[in-house]
Amino acid sequence: MAQHNVIVGVCGGIAAYKVAQVVSTLTQRGVCVDVVMTQFAQQFVGPLTFQSLSGRRVITGYEIAAHDYNPTHISLAQKADAFLIAPATANVIGKIAHGIADDILTTTFLSATCPVLVAPAMNDAMYKNPVVQENISLIKRRGVAIIEPETGRLACGSVGEGRLAHPDRIVESVLGVLKARA
Ligand SMILES: Cc1cc2nc3c(=O)[nH]c(=O)nc-3n(C[C@H](O)[C@H](O)[C@H](O)COP(=O)(O)O)c2cc1C
Repeated sequence: MAQHNVIVGVCGGIAAYKVAQVVSTLTQRGVCVDVVMTQFAQQFVGPLTFQSLSGRRVITGYEIAAHDYNPTHISLAQKADAFLIAPATANVIGKIAHGIADDILTTTFLSATCPVLVAPAMNDAMYKNPVVQENISLIKRRGVAIIEPETGRLACGSVGEGRLAHPDRIVESVLGVLKARA
């Protein structure tokens, strides 16, 4: 069976470190993982962590190879079998709900035609905020699969809904999408 290509878009939330486990497991399961990070994500986890775990260069900004004119966000999107955004911040969820493409992650999202999975993670009040809920409903209606967050202790100290789904659950969701496409 041909190797699957998955883009993992990492946003600037405290749960970014948990996505290292997701990238590691997917890679060990034979998936070719391209990690795309927002600028804020790089404040939480260094690209070198994802590069080491995926065995691939991490995309942290716009780039065009010297030998052709196919920007990275287009070439990645064209070959992707699935696109996972985790942890998905309130900010990126809002941007993708409204077609804003002002960084490499959100531009890649707009360019992608493969199935997209979004795993939100944020403070419980942020998660319950009607604007965030409406944005989630909007992208869901357009076919984005939401990997629902869990209820529990949050990094900010409160207890509530907004904890990133367990890495195993995220991996199984991605593998489920790939299996359906095989
Ligand atoms: C310590 C800290 C933790 C944060 N954690 C989250 C989070 O879990 N979820 C979230 O949506 N935003 C979180 N934020 C806010 C985002 O980092 C902020 O909205 C940023 O603009 C997101 O950028 P990005 O969406 O381009 O990655 C946090 C901010 C700080 C300073």
